[in-house]
Amino acid sequence: MALVAALEAKDPHTERHSTQVAIYAEHLATAAGIGSAEVEVLVIAALLHDIGKIAVPDAILLKPGRLTPPEFEIIKLHPARGVEILRRMGFLERELPLVLHHHEWFNGRGYPAGLSGEAIPLGARILQVADCIDAMLSPRTYKKAIGVEEAIAELHRWRGIQFDPDIADSAVAMLERQPEEALEICPGLVSVMGIAAETTPWPVPSLALRNEFAYVGLGRAAIAH
Ligand SMILES: [Fe+2]
Repeated sequence: MALVAALEAKDPHTERHSTQVAIYAEHLATAAGIGSAEVEVLVIAALLHDIGKIAVPDAILLKPGRLTPPEFEIIKLHPARGVEILRRMGFLERELPLVLHHHEWFNGRGYPAGLSGEAIPLGARILQVADCIDAMLSPRTYKKAIGVEEAIAELHRWRGIQFDPDIADSAVAMLERQPEEALEICPGLVSVMGIAAETTPWPVPSLALRNEFAYVGLGRAAIAH
C-alpha cells in the first residue's frame, strides 16, 4: 500500500508498526466475535491508522526526547489529518471513524473528540489497545521496548481507564498464551493483502514485498467498496 510505504519511509521506526497493529487488532476482533467483513474494515483501518502522521513535521515526529505540550498538540492532529487524506481518495468510508477515533480513551480523556465508553466505535477501541501493545513491545526513538510481563501489567493498570475493559482482558489472554501466537496468520489481514493463507509464510520477509502485497490488497478493497 503506497500510503503506508510513504509513512514508513518518513518514520522508519514505525516500519512494522501498521502491520503488527493489524495483526493484534484482528486477534482481538476475533475474540470479540466480530464478523469477517467487519474484521476486514478493522484491518484496513489498522494499516492506515497513523497515515495522518505524514502531515506531522519530521522535527516533531522523529524527536528523540519527550514532546513539549505544543508539540503534542500537533501530534494530536494526526487522526483528523489521516481522515482528510483518506476521504480525498473517495473510498474507505467505513474505516474513517476507526482512524479518527483510535486515540480515544475509554474514560473520555483521549482525543480528538473525548468520546467515552461505547460511544467510541468498537473497532477504534480495539485499535487503541492493539496500537498500545505494539508501542509498548517495540523500541522507539524516545524509549526502549518493555517485556510482555510488563505490558500485561500495563493492560491491567489502564483497564477501564484508557482501555475498554473487555478488550484489555482479551489482550492479556492473547499475550499470556504465547506472545508468538499473536504473530500467527490472520485471515482478515491475509485477505486484505491479497495473499492466500495456505501458501504464504508470515511475516512476509521483505518490507518492499509486503507493501506490494498490501497495495494489491487495498486495490481489491477499493473495488469491493
Ligand atoms: Fe496514532
